[in-house]
Amino acid sequence: MTLDLTPGPVNLRDFETAARDRLDPVYYDYFASGAQDELTVAANEEAFRRHSLVPRVLRGAGRPRLDVTVLGTPAAMPVLLAPTAFHRLAHPEGEPATARAAAAAGVIMIAAMLSTVTVEEIAATGATLWFQLYPQPDLAFTGSLIRRAEAAGCRALVVTADSPALGRNERGDRNDFHDLPAGIHCANMGENGHVRQVVLSPDISWEYLDRLRAMTSLPILLKGVLHPRDARLAVEHGVDGIVVSNHGGRQLDTTPASLDRLPLIAAEVGGRVPLLLDGGVRRGTDVVKALALGATAVAIGRPVLWGLATGGEEGVGRVLSLLRAELDNALTLCGAATPGEVTGDELGGILA
Ligand code: FNR
Repeated sequence: MTLDLTPGPVNLRDFETAARDRLDPVYYDYFASGAQDELTVAANEEAFRRHSLVPRVLRGAGRPRLDVTVLGTPAAMPVLLAPTAFHRLAHPEGEPATARAAAAAGVIMIAAMLSTVTVEEIAATGATLWFQLYPQPDLAFTGSLIRRAEAAGCRALVVTADSPALGRNERGDRNDFHDLPAGIHCANMGENGHVRQVVLSPDISWEYLDRLRAMTSLPILLKGVLHPRDARLAVEHGVDGIVVSNHGGRQLDTTPASLDRLPLIAAEVGGRVPLLLDGGVRRGTDVVKALALGATAVAIGRPVLWGLATGGEEGVGRVLSLLRAELDNALTLCGAATPGEVTGDELGGILA
């Protein structure tokens, strides 16, 4: 597909509009929606607007370096691709198109367990991958997924903890969208795998996490933590990183914005493990705000899907290059030389 981007989207929000124009409205709703009244979806973006950046001047910081290393994985910027399911609903090429764009941008893609192309095929693009897992009660099956992810070269495991059940999605109910269309399936879940074979279980506990810990030497991140006590427990149970996230507002509606929980969790964790933040990141200035409040890096979910739906690999690449240019500009204007220099009390000081 040839992509005409002139005048084209100039920011991540424009990509949502462009994607909405192209996508089947049922799939657009699947990607865009959140749980119930979608209050948390709105809160995530609104939280960034409530913070201001206070630049420092005449620091002679030069052009910033954007590269970071997260849990041993180097990345060209502190922005990861959050795990999102079913990329072939956005574009026929699906996850490999996303992965090629991530590889070209030098960023980490968190490959979703519920991908529509196998993790091996995604890894074959050469992208730097982490693997996201919904903990399955069948530990033998979970173990086989972990071994496949390891063999494919994934460099960390992201265990999603916020999904003891599916959130209640009313747009999906209205659209009667409960099954993947013919020809698209959960490729990692076995031959002709199907979303219904995924078990989201309220029985999963910290003890399960201990078992996972014993199964792999990969770094483990726990995704979906909002309560500081859970952050503390996660560290006590040996996790290597935490993703502060409310699943983009798709699970429990009326949770606070993930950004609003970040400082509380940063205070509790006290630098023992790196924190990632996702939910509502749409601007380079949003990335700086998350860094200032304690994140080592952020992840973006929907904007990647909007890029993919708009122009496949090229569209995702454009989303990533726009965010990179915005981040470069924001750090420069803040007087920061590196992402690691941004803190809440000095560079880019945050005013609530
Ligand atoms: C998700 N998310 C998600 N998370 C996860 O751990 N496993 C998954 O399979 C999915 N699938 C998924 C599908 C879609 C369509 C969306 C929008 C989100 C959540 C995702 O990783 C991330 O937490 C949010 O998307 C971040 O919020 P933003 O950037 O979309 O606002």
